[in-house]
Amino acid sequence: MTTDSTQTPQSIFASHLKAHRLVYPDDRLVALFARHCGSLEANRNRKGLDIGCGGGRHLALLEDFGFDVCGIDYTPQAIETTRAALQPSSANWDLKVAELSSAQWPAGSFAAVVAWGVLFLKRRAEVIADLRHIRQSLADDGVVFANFRGKENWLYGQGIEVESGVFQLDERAKEYNGLLYNFLDLPDIEAIAAEAGLQVVERERVDLWKRELSEHHTWWVVALKPVRA
Ligand SMILES: C[S@@+](CC[C@H](N)C(=O)[O-])C[C@H]1O[C@@H](n2cnc3c(N)ncnc32)[C@H](O)[C@@H]1O
Repeated sequence: MTTDSTQTPQSIFASHLKAHRLVYPDDRLVALFARHCGSLEANRNRKGLDIGCGGGRHLALLEDFGFDVCGIDYTPQAIETTRAALQPSSANWDLKVAELSSAQWPAGSFAAVVAWGVLFLKRRAEVIADLRHIRQSLADDGVVFANFRGKENWLYGQGIEVESGVFQLDERAKEYNGLLYNFLDLPDIEAIAAEAGLQVVERERVDLWKRELSEHHTWWVVALKPVRA
């Protein structure tokens, strides 16, 4: 089995976006927002950040909950698509083409951070570094909403294992061919978060059986808050 080395993660995500831009927010994320930051009054004049915003469906959600909207994505087509599709709101949003690890914000900038479909695309040490970077940009009373692919997943093992639980996916992984996936279960997520000064304050598991039940997708959905000193 071969990995498609002609593609970059950015070109793969640009193809996904062209094939199907997601329009509606993930319902688990809507529920987490309602539970952890449901007061629009309290959110007013505070910033919300979407890391890897893709086609922008969760930027609109941040706006609905009253936040000043910020978004980054390392795929230029994602930012272009979001700006075009979500006018006129997008004109007031702070959107940048940027890789998470090199994006710069003042400490404590964000009351809410979304990282949906994003944080598991690197090796363990880099995931921890990214979470530390997020912690630094998060207000002390802020919250991060993130999801991770669990190990009971049809994609697990569909490529070369480059590190324990981390696979360079190949053609068996179909449209994910060429991506690096770090499959993390709840104890792994809790340990990684702790190393970054964050704690899991809410956890959910989502299991989906797609394409005539041939693909089992397992997701861990978590809310993270700063560890209190
Ligand atoms: C699976 S898509 C999810 C898009 C969006 N969050 C959603 O839920 O609809 C992942 C997106 O994150 C972006 N991305 C992945 N890793 C990133 C990183 N380290 N820095 C910035 N953007 C990233 C990709 O370009 C892609 O648009």
